[in-house]
Amino acid sequence: MKIDILTLFPEIALAPLSDSIIQRARGAGLVEVRGHNLRDWSEDKHRRVDDSPCGGGPGMVLQPGTLHAAIMALKKHNTRVILMTPQGAPLKQARVRELSAETHLLIVCGHYEGIDHRIVETLIDEEISIGDYVLTNGALAAAVLCDAVIRLLPGALGDSQSAVEESFSDPNLLEAPCYTRPIDFMGMKVPEVLLSGNHAKIEAWREERALERTRQNRPDLSENA
Ligand code: ADE
Repeated sequence: MKIDILTLFPEIALAPLSDSIIQRARGAGLVEVRGHNLRDWSEDKHRRVDDSPCGGGPGMVLQPGTLHAAIMALKKHNTRVILMTPQGAPLKQARVRELSAETHLLIVCGHYEGIDHRIVETLIDEEISIGDYVLTNGALAAAVLCDAVIRLLPGALGDSQSAVEESFSDPNLLEAPCYTRPIDFMGMKVPEVLLSGNHAKIEAWREERALERTRQNRPDLSENA
């Protein structure tokens, strides 16, 4: 898989992808990630890429010319072009799984008020939001999307099971709580069933606790759990 990230802040997008599991996946050649500075396509002598919104209002809008030139230069016949924006569809694990099967992602990061809508209409395949809050720019959101996608590439996770038995493998269920040694920590004991060796009982306990946790933390999901 190849991922190109188009942003005003390539360092912000790449920093979280330069360590640990994701860096290992990159080192092993499972994915090639490159950051590109949008300003490199600006034709302005001051490398300007934005202007004020038509119709007035605060902030600045990324201009279509620079975005068009950059996207056309980076896009290939098999590219999925994604815009990171709080106006996008909320990212879910099922979509992450589908995107991990793509050959080439071009992730465009918004900034300020957003990007000129003519680019959204003509060159963007899909708009994605990582949550109902607003970040200062899309570079962090791009890093979140890349992390979620790359960890699902075959070989990225040490134990391939860990991607199967986790929260949102079932989209309406969180994972059960987990424990490790010591068995007694400050007087708090690991639930006995987990030490019983009875796998059927452990499975039933985990299912029950997963439901309980979903009801507590995500009442919106638990209606469907
Ligand atoms: N850019 C700013 N906020 C964002 C969000 N919540 N999701 C995706 N991109 C963003």
